[in-house]
Amino acid sequence: MERIAIASDHAGFEYKEKIKLFLFSLGFEANDFGSFSTESVDYPDYAHLVADIISKGKFKRGILICGTGIGMCITANKHVGIRAAVCESTESAKFGRMHNDANILCIGARITPWGRVEDIIKVFLNTKFEGGRHEKRIKKI
Ligand code: RB5
Repeated sequence: MERIAIASDHAGFEYKEKIKLFLFSLGFEANDFGSFSTESVDYPDYAHLVADIISKGKFKRGILICGTGIGMCITANKHVGIRAAVCESTESAKFGRMHNDANILCIGARITPWGRVEDIIKVFLNTKFEGGRHEKRIKKI
C-alpha cells in the first residue's frame, strides 16, 4: 500500500480530513503531518515538513492543502527534487504528472469544490510520467 504524505494549514484542515478517507478508499495510506485543527497556523511550517521527507526519499508523493494551494506550492518547491503543482482541474493534474512528474499535489480548499478535488486526486495518483523528452526537461529545473 503506497503511503502518501499529507498536510494542511487551518484553511485546508477540513479537506485534509476528507482526503485521508478518500485516499484510504482508493487503497492508499495517508500519513498526516498536521495541522490538526482549524486553529490558525502558518502554511510554510507544514509544507516544509512534507517537502523535506519527500526530498529525502522517505515518501514518493504528497498532498498539501491551504486556502489557495499557492503558499504550500511556493514553499514546497524550495526543496531539492520537489516538483509541486497547484491543480484546480483534472487537466492540470494529468499534465502535471505526464510532463512534469509532479510529486506533490497542492489543493486550494477555498478555490476548488470538493467534488472536483476527488477527481483531481484520482488523476494525479493514477497518471504516469511520460519520460522521454520530458525527462531531459525536468533535469534542467
Ligand atoms: C490562510 O489565510 C491562507 O493565506 C493560506 O491558507 C493560503 O491560501 C496561502 O497560500
